Amino acid sequence: MKLLTVLVALSLICATCATCHEQILSCFEQRVNQRINEQIAVELKGHYTYLYLSHFFLQHDFYYPKAAKYFRAKSDEEMQHAEKFIDYQNQRGGTYSISSVEKKSDGKCAAITSLKKGFQCAVELEMDVTRALNSLLTDVSDVKAEIGNCEIDDGNKDLLLSQSILVTVNGTTKALNHHVCGDLESKLEKVEYVELGEMIAHDFLGHQLEDTKELANYVGTLEKFGDSESALGSYLVDKHLEL
Ligand SMILES: [Fe+2]
Repeated sequence: MKLLTVLVALSLICATCATCHEQILSCFEQRVNQRINEQIAVELKGHYTYLYLSHFFLQHDFYYPKAAKYFRAKSDEEMQHAEKFIDYQNQRGGTYSISSVEKKSDGKCAAITSLKKGFQCAVELEMDVTRALNSLLTDVSDVKAEIGNCEIDDGNKDLLLSQSILVTVNGTTKALNHHVCGDLESKLEKVEYVELGEMIAHDFLGHQLEDTKELANYVGTLEKFGDSESALGSYLVDKHLEL
């Protein structure tokens, strides 16, 4: 029923649209564009949170200089992640936009009072990022159309249509442009942004496991010192931190 509503909406949108492929693309494209921009915001939040941690551990009463360098490198890495998505948005003819960026301040990040809390905050941050990436991958693997929001910039149509988008119509999956118009309008089942999904899985999700494990290792080492705020434990972990 929902799909039927989309198809009716598609048939009503601009009469000047050149092809049925552009019409089909337009409603799905709005959703993908928004989701990529949301992920850019998640990556920038990671960048900003790590930047905060890196300077926090340079304060005289929480002075752990190697941890500060470690978190600074993480901050730079998150900025690179954000820029990779921004570059991708531009390459595919999407529209990049950004909202205000705030550091993570819930959960373990609410009040950083020790090196252990700093690493616990980082673990939670990485778990947030992983959840967001999983959600994005799920969405782009089976894109739901934005009903009633089906306009895309005419100037970007060629780029947007050149993306690797697989469309399933009546049980048959092939590139969007290879489907017959009549079938697209009546038997559309699934739209998948293949290249975007591959990039998320290959370039981002693999690193998430590795990074989260590394941070969790430091939390575990600090916990072995018994006293949850052990000064000696924090000193030793900082001293032996691998940069
Ligand atoms: Fe990231």
